[in-house]
Amino acid sequence: MSILITGGAGYIGSHTCVELLEAGYDIVVIDNYVNSCPESLERVKKITGKDFPYYECDIRDRDGLDKVFAAQKIEAVIHFAGLKAVGESCQKPLEYYDNNITGTLTLLEAMRANGCKTIVFSSSATVYGAENQVPFVETMKTGTTTNPYGTTKLYIEGILQDVYKADNDWSVVLLRYFNPVGAHESGMIGEAPSFPNNLMPYISQVAVGKRECVNVFGDCYDTPDGTGVRDYIHVVDLAKGHVNAIQFALGRTGVEIFNLGTGHGVSVIELIKAFSEANGIEIPYKIVEPRAGDIAYCYANCDKAQRVLGWKAERDIKKMCEDTWRWQKNNPNGYNS
Ligand code: NAD
Ligand code: WQD
Repeated sequence: MSILITGGAGYIGSHTCVELLEAGYDIVVIDNYVNSCPESLERVKKITGKDFPYYECDIRDRDGLDKVFAAQKIEAVIHFAGLKAVGESCQKPLEYYDNNITGTLTLLEAMRANGCKTIVFSSSATVYGAENQVPFVETMKTGTTTNPYGTTKLYIEGILQDVYKADNDWSVVLLRYFNPVGAHESGMIGEAPSFPNNLMPYISQVAVGKRECVNVFGDCYDTPDGTGVRDYIHVVDLAKGHVNAIQFALGRTGVEIFNLGTGHGVSVIELIKAFSEANGIEIPYKIVEPRAGDIAYCYANCDKAQRVLGWKAERDIKKMCEDTWRWQKNNPNGYNS
């Protein structure tokens, strides 16, 4: 039996494929490569020395999904596939709702029709909104999202909860990621955005000489140095969290929510300085206007993941910076390098 990984060629998906293969799971990947390419999957094979099937398939393509279910014995799904750029989602809300929500509905219909009722879903800390106080705990009422991307995560969490309410045979695990950064220690897979919307990819593109300086979005937040504080988590720790989550999800039913973060907040300036120190590279930065929709603090309480899943993030900020840089300098143009 295999685990189906939707969006497995992407940043978090490819790292999770490595960890699942190394933990002894069989996997099958589907991706439409809208934000990735099959080269990442070829590199997963090189890193692990293991083979697995992958298909070019859109999660909105019901016939395509049925063909994959017919060809493979699938016992559970880890569902990463989705569009994730916050700014773009404000320009293209219909495309985001269609891709993320219609896509998830089609996937769930295909799962139900093929007798597969176990799913681990990539949700986001964004569902906590601005009303809650840090550290965010899973039991908090989810907040008001500030962009269509975040709203898709909130809605999909609700859809999955309703699916379980209607049919108690389902096993649903909602993973709320904080800020994934870093790369596999081999330097062979990592994050390859065409434009860096997030802080760490921006820092690493400055380091490699593709951008002049980091624009720090505001220094007047109510935080120790005035810049935004986030819970950066190494993508390999995050990927390992999926191995624990799938182990947990298989052989049970119900809905459970887990934060996957470190539980520690790091400011924008602290992250820039940590990257400089870890890699011995000067990172110029300048303070610019705050970015709309940003909040001062976002970090997790991860006690539940430790208690129930037996999972805890282990890699520190220095390691996150070193591994990001190894990937970036070996692959200055991502998988096209
Ligand atoms: P990513 O863009 O690297 O990976 C997503 C993958 O899904 C890509 O390979 C893309 O080609 C594929 N995809 C998108 N739409 C598809 C469709 N309709 N059919 C098939 N494949 C499709 O992003 P990521 O950072 O690896 O994120 C993975 C998941 O985690 C996403 O759902 C994202 O929203 C969520 N998430 C990411 C972060 C983050 O900061 N990276 C934080 C919280 C949650
Ligand atoms: C981090 C900090 C910025 C870029 C986003 C999504 C969230 C989740 C994770 C998917 C903030 C500051 C950033 C820059 C900066 N994704 N910053 N200059 O906004 O915490 O979370 O990714 O679910 O939904 O919103 O991450 O990396 O964009 O920003 O000063 O060029 O860095 O203001 O304080 P964010 P980020």
